[in-house]
Amino acid sequence: MPEHFLKISDHSPEALLKLVQEAVRLKKKGDKSKPLAGKTVALYFAKSSTRTRVAFQAGIFQMGGFSMLLRKDELQLGRGESHHDTAKVLSRYVDALIVRTYGHEELEEFAGFSSIPVINALTDKYHPCQAVADYAVLLDKKKGLKGLRLAYVGDGNNVANSLMLGGAMLGVNVAVATPKGYAPPEDVVETARRLAKKSGVKITLTHSPEDAAKGADALYTDVWASMGHESQIKKRKKDFAGFMVDAKLLRKAKPGCSVMHCLPAHRGEEISSEVMDCPASIVFDQAEYKLHAQKAILKMCMGGGKKWE
Ligand code: CP
Ligand code: NVA
Repeated sequence: MPEHFLKISDHSPEALLKLVQEAVRLKKKGDKSKPLAGKTVALYFAKSSTRTRVAFQAGIFQMGGFSMLLRKDELQLGRGESHHDTAKVLSRYVDALIVRTYGHEELEEFAGFSSIPVINALTDKYHPCQAVADYAVLLDKKKGLKGLRLAYVGDGNNVANSLMLGGAMLGVNVAVATPKGYAPPEDVVETARRLAKKSGVKITLTHSPEDAAKGADALYTDVWASMGHESQIKKRKKDFAGFMVDAKLLRKAKPGCSVMHCLPAHRGEEISSEVMDCPASIVFDQAEYKLHAQKAILKMCMGGGKKWE
């Protein structure tokens, strides 16, 4: 079975911690080795990307490998060839497949029929590469993850889901504040709470941004309309009124609280420009950490099929 990375809870908490620690090591110490020498990685992106895609392609090059970008409209997949057949064919040419797409089940179909590792570069449900980068930056900045409090304010989306699962596995308390009707899916909350019980932390859902932000070590937000939901933005702007991460909300958090956003941001909607550019903001460190986190993920998935546990 190839070493896929489809969601953060696919692996053990110990393996996730090692991934996060490896990302920090790569950032601080660098690594000139070429574990991907002679290997080809295909990136299938059905949605836009700046950070994830560029960081993967740069990282693959730095690790000695070759990458190719496959856009849906350039593949026969765009004309109706199945994910099943596409995965089987690509498995015969390349050594790993990185996928950004809509339904998580499309990614699972790719993985199910692929004999090479498949890495989730974002689906509607999960964004595990983002959460690895985010916990790596927190480990770097806060000098430890256990017992931290992360408040996520906004849409209960792919980023929120992965942060909840990752936090539960790494011993970080996660409070998620959404407007009514935008809470994270129940199955994800249930899994996160099961994992949190083992690590001794709490996953809290609320509709009050202030309650979530109280005493937080990190205050995180993401766009109100994710890719694929753009047509709902008018309604969402109304529904999310009062959910902007701004200076007033930041004052509720712990002194020294870091402001986080996976980017791209809509300044003046989910986050004020003032807060995004203030000294507490680590949003561009998060972006930088995507390179190191994704290199660590490639190493885990392509490093001989052994989980880091
Ligand atoms: N944070 C993130 O995944 O950014 P991109 O959509 O630019 O890849
Ligand atoms: N929730 C956002 C994240 C982008 C990185 C989206 O899916 O569009």
